[in-house]
Amino acid sequence: MNALFQRLIAPITKRKWFAGRYRLKRRLGTGGMAEVWLAERDDGRAVAIKRILSHLDDDASIRLCFRDEARLGSLLNHPHLVRQLEHGYIDQTPFIVLDYVDGLSLRQLAEKAYGAGTTLPLGLCLRLVAEVAEALYHAHQATDAEGKPLNLVHRDISPDNILLNEHGQAHLGDFGVARADCNQRITANGSLCGKLAYMGPQQASAERIDHRADQFSLAVVLFELLACRRLLADTTPARTLGRILYTDLPSITEVTVGLPQAVVKIIDKALSRDPEDRYENCGQFAADLRLVGRHFDACEDESYEALLAHLQSLDGQPEPLPLAARVKRRVRVRRWVPVADHTELGFVA
Ligand SMILES: Nc1ncnc2c1ncn2[C@@H]1O[C@H](COP(=O)(O)OP(=O)(O)O)[C@@H](O)[C@H]1O
Ligand SMILES: [Mg+2]
Repeated sequence: MNALFQRLIAPITKRKWFAGRYRLKRRLGTGGMAEVWLAERDDGRAVAIKRILSHLDDDASIRLCFRDEARLGSLLNHPHLVRQLEHGYIDQTPFIVLDYVDGLSLRQLAEKAYGAGTTLPLGLCLRLVAEVAEALYHAHQATDAEGKPLNLVHRDISPDNILLNEHGQAHLGDFGVARADCNQRITANGSLCGKLAYMGPQQASAERIDHRADQFSLAVVLFELLACRRLLADTTPARTLGRILYTDLPSITEVTVGLPQAVVKIIDKALSRDPEDRYENCGQFAADLRLVGRHFDACEDESYEALLAHLQSLDGQPEPLPLAARVKRRVRVRRWVPVADHTELGFVA
């Protein structure tokens, strides 16, 4: 039996210990390039281990991407970024060990609420997006060990890559396709990285982009959370691209009811077609979100747990947000959060 075949048929769970000190538990997710496993470190700490899919082990460009991701992870440190604990090699295959984020992804939370026929409270949406904007600001400012700016752009901001812990705090992860000056791989001109349905016009047409591309993508995430529908996604990639490049997108005021004017202004600015019209940086975007967010319950800790219990108590299976064209009704923005004992509803602002 050749070595490659052996690796294909031997799931990594068969090994009792991974890298000498991690016990693998279950697979958390699989992407195009890597798989992520929940594991327990020898000191009992829960971690997530990311490694290249075994059939891609020998792909030099994927190994380079993975090494770039590990290097960036070791240079970044922010309370709203998924923390990298270590990286290394096992049988010459690179792996990354991350703090385990024990909760839902933002996509899962949005789908849970939508499937239950309800919307997420405004204060929660504003807080989560502000947390990610702060994490992005940190990443955009990051430097290498010698203090040279990395000029980092995440390029894959989407609700799947925003993980919420059990207290409802956001953690941005997956720097797998991030661009940075310290990267060893070279992204060919014209190649697209990230999810098309969250890209701004510059990224989608493979122009040179900077950190303001991430701001646009994050604003798409906020729009979708509040409007309970997709903004750019369409039935085919070609139609999605057409929407991004050639369609006048609906303003959030056309698809929601009761959204404060201050929030409309923030979303419109961050979603500007021309990057010059967006916020200068994600720090300013976050500051404005925090400023309006002060008037609403940010839905943290017990309040977040009460919200999850409330969603659980409603009937319905998680359901993907519908495409824009399929929705005719405007969504009423929810300003209240379920109070702690979730027997009544608390009104906020
Ligand atoms: N630190 C973590 N804690 C919990 N789950 C994680 C963690 N990292 C990744 N995951 C899960 O694995 C999935 C894939 O991980 P990600 O880093 O986004 O890789 P990919 O490049 O395959 O998208 C995530 O969407 C998430 O569900
Ligand atoms: Mg991902």
